[in-house]
Amino acid sequence: MKAEAHQLDHEPVLLQQVLSFLSPKPNETYLDLTAGYGGHAEAVRFMTDNAPAVLVDRDNMAVTYLQKRFVDKNVTIMQSDFLSASQKLAEQGNKYDLILADIGVSSPHLNIASRGFAIKYDGPLDMRMDQSQSLTAETIVNSYSEDDLIRILKQYGEEPRARSIAKAIITARPIHTTSQLADIVAKQFRGYHKVHPATRTFQGLRIAVNDELMQLEKAIPIWVSLLKPGGRLGIISFHSLEDRIVKKAFTERSGDRFDAELSVLTKRPETADKNELVFNPRSRSAKLRVAAKIKK
Ligand SMILES: C[S@@+](CC[C@H](N)C(=O)[O-])C[C@H]1O[C@@H](n2cnc3c(N)ncnc32)[C@H](O)[C@@H]1O
Repeated sequence: MKAEAHQLDHEPVLLQQVLSFLSPKPNETYLDLTAGYGGHAEAVRFMTDNAPAVLVDRDNMAVTYLQKRFVDKNVTIMQSDFLSASQKLAEQGNKYDLILADIGVSSPHLNIASRGFAIKYDGPLDMRMDQSQSLTAETIVNSYSEDDLIRILKQYGEEPRARSIAKAIITARPIHTTSQLADIVAKQFRGYHKVHPATRTFQGLRIAVNDELMQLEKAIPIWVSLLKPGGRLGIISFHSLEDRIVKKAFTERSGDRFDAELSVLTKRPETADKNELVFNPRSRSAKLRVAAKIKK
């Protein structure tokens, strides 16, 4: 599959807030765990005077783009899920001044129909960020038990109609495309809806396909261990399930306790301002939390 150049556009969210809270300084090293199309990375690197940086992404399309954008020998690009990459960097004993994770999907995921993430485009039921992985949304939709579908839709999609949707999916099998699935789910709802009624179902499936919450939960403690004293860790999340994990992880490691490792720099999560909401509507659900590693 070849993507058109414009389909690879991705506007980095909350960029000013990221720069203001991470506050990159010349010569500070940078680890970007979801480097995507390099918008945050380029701005951070500019402020560090192009100090050494490691850019990670699990998506082949993003990695190919990063390899063209960053040809500097100070940049190491890793194609990997961020949990495995973090484990590897920790085993190597590496430490960083600045760490950023801008989790979730990129605009190209949503703009390219064949990736199967978008409700509004007809495509295969794929939803894999790493296309070399075997599990797809199609496998889940067509082979998981009713109980497992209900669990995924409830836990990851926070879908109140998980039961009726799971039943409808099982009755309609086999389902091969995003449009088929969106129509089956929409039939379980009546009346007017501001957002497509299958939005929660798509979210749930996407999180399950990419094991997103497990990745985040297990990776945050490693990110804290990868910070140099005084280093800053920023995490941007796009829905409450992720933000809850980030908030809990920061709270458990900060505050008035003898073993506190972090000092939380964002009293409340940072969100998009009016301007950003206008030129980048995808920023509307973005929340940034930043913490600094306490110097001991
Ligand atoms: C919101 S985009 C990041 C955009 C980036 N900050 C930029 O400025 O272009 C999220 C990226 O994270 C990647 N991603 C999401 N979860 C991941 C994971 N667990 N491991 C590695 N990459 C992940 C996706 O493939 C996607 O490219």
